[in-house]
Amino acid sequence: EVTKKYMEFEGIRVPGGVHSVESLTWAWKEFEVRDDDVFNVTYPKSGTTWLQEILSLIYSNGDPTPVKTQYSWDRVPWIEQYSGRRQIENRPSPRLITTHLPIHIFPQSYYKSKAKIIYTVRNPKDVCVSLYHFSLVAQFMESREDFQDFITLFLSNDVMFGRWFEHVKGWLTIKDNPNFLLLSYDSMVKDLRSSVAKICKFLGKDLSDAAIDSVVEHSSFKAMKDNNMSNYSAVPNDIFNKQHGTFHRKGISGDHKNYFTPAQEEEFNEIYKECMKDIDLAFI
Ligand code: A3P
Repeated sequence: EVTKKYMEFEGIRVPGGVHSVESLTWAWKEFEVRDDDVFNVTYPKSGTTWLQEILSLIYSNGDPTPVKTQYSWDRVPWIEQYSGRRQIENRPSPRLITTHLPIHIFPQSYYKSKAKIIYTVRNPKDVCVSLYHFSLVAQFMESREDFQDFITLFLSNDVMFGRWFEHVKGWLTIKDNPNFLLLSYDSMVKDLRSSVAKICKFLGKDLSDAAIDSVVEHSSFKAMKDNNMSNYSAVPNDIFNKQHGTFHRKGISGDHKNYFTPAQEEEFNEIYKECMKDIDLAFI
């Protein structure tokens, strides 16, 4: 049954349908991180699915077979969801793992491991626009028809996984850890090949130029929109209402310009400045 009911856990709200106190507690306190685990960490709508595809393709040396035969959520599962434990616990290494968790409830055993974390960050105004559309499609999300009402929700602690600001600031506290890579969605849009090369270097994966070309080709917006293993078309309509849109919507930087009025943008920028005053993220 699809429910819009959110549950509260350690100060944040998450959709109750796919999370539980048990699943979140397991991820946080019991999950044993291995040194060769790779974490795809994002705030929702910041490039999660894109990284799932890129990581899958890097670990297959550019062979598209896995991304064409296995669902993205099986290849690089979410650790915090109900199914996470079953999918991840006994999987052979190297495990590719996704999470939207804020850092304060990330697996505690990470801190005594050499596991790698890739954190992808996206312009929060574009995140807000993307999440607005997604909330109309995803029936497990709280939505608002009116965009101004959605901005208000986005800027409040009621938004799922907590506010963008605290999520990003929390994760940036470990940015100097050598096993942490900060990626920008907007840089990936500009130059995907350079980002893929950077990810390979970070992971110590030495791919040939042809293999990197293949990763780039199969993780393009068009390729992913057409890939039924990554575009969520397999999810039933009562969970993803396809009448309200598709998962792969636009895949661009700067779409907020088409949605925010100048007054809304100004107000958002003020809040950004206040919340992020000690943080240097040049993309905004
Ligand atoms: P838009 O709604 O702005 O189009 P997530 O996977 O974290 O939920 O993020 C979804 C967003 O990433 C959507 O943004 C989606 O279109 C975009 N996206 C997914 N795959 C992409 C790709 N290969 N290239 C660019 N954007 C992509």
